[in-house]
Amino acid sequence: MSDERLVLTEVSEYIATITLNRPKALNALSPELMDELIAAVNACDSDDSVRVLILTGGPRAFAAGADIKAMIESSPMKLHVSQIIAKWNRIRDCRKPIIAAVSGYALGGGCELAMMCDIILASDTAKFGQPEINIGVIPGAGGTQRLTRAIGPYRAMELILTGDLISAQEAAAYGLVSHVYPAESLPSEARRLAAKIASRPPLAVQMAKDAVRYAAETTLREGLEIEKRNFYMLFDTQDQKEGMRAFVEKRTPTFTGE
Ligand code: CAA
Repeated sequence: MSDERLVLTEVSEYIATITLNRPKALNALSPELMDELIAAVNACDSDDSVRVLILTGGPRAFAAGADIKAMIESSPMKLHVSQIIAKWNRIRDCRKPIIAAVSGYALGGGCELAMMCDIILASDTAKFGQPEINIGVIPGAGGTQRLTRAIGPYRAMELILTGDLISAQEAAAYGLVSHVYPAESLPSEARRLAAKIASRPPLAVQMAKDAVRYAAETTLREGLEIEKRNFYMLFDTQDQKEGMRAFVEKRTPTFTGE
């Protein structure tokens, strides 16, 4: 039964693993798949038993892009009315950190989806790219903006204008990917990182994510204001008291998320 679902979610020990499950189409991001993904992210965002999300695909593809077959006969107004891309912003807006664990292709919307996450880990089989130019369009879910911020304007321009793909190692050298692992150890490494983040005070993690996000999305002045606001806000939490008292008392803190 669960195999028919386009997105599978498993929660354990504060970590939700969300797996794109459309392997025959290389996890092409159809509207139905995106609706399921957004519902899964929404559910995790409001579930206190989840502190960190891992978003992953299959061995051949994280996701090979938006579903070309579903878009081919579309029109500007149909795209507008269906909010086909606007809806994806819900992934970006998740308050909890999302780790993308990428094996195989992360192309077009797949690369953009990975870039909506907060940390990208890759296996040595991963390939990243924005090949939309080859089918007569351009990236539409943030590729021209996020890739440019992630790897710099000249590299991004070359990739977007040629549609060429880069390996996991190149993506790591460019700063898009944090670490590259052998394919068989990617799931455990993603979980190890998620567990480390999940052990940190959850509200501080969320405030930190929020502030770091602003660094890429606004001016330095506004970003510094947000950082200061979030820093001050954390003094309303039990975990701030616990963390600072534990430091002074030379013991390990116990964080409750309050
Ligand atoms: N949409 C729909 N179906 C896709 C798809 C996509 N983006 N990518 C792969 N598939 C399907 C193929 O049509 C094929 O299905 P059938 O067996 O029914 O024919 C199946 O997945 C396997 O694909 P291939 O036979 O092509 O596999 P391959 O190993 O020969 O090639 C590939 C793999 C290089 C990834 C190739 O599939 C490919 O180039 N895919 C398209 C990549 C792309 O252009 N992505 C951008 C999409 S547009 C976009 O994302 C817009 C945006 O910014 C939001």
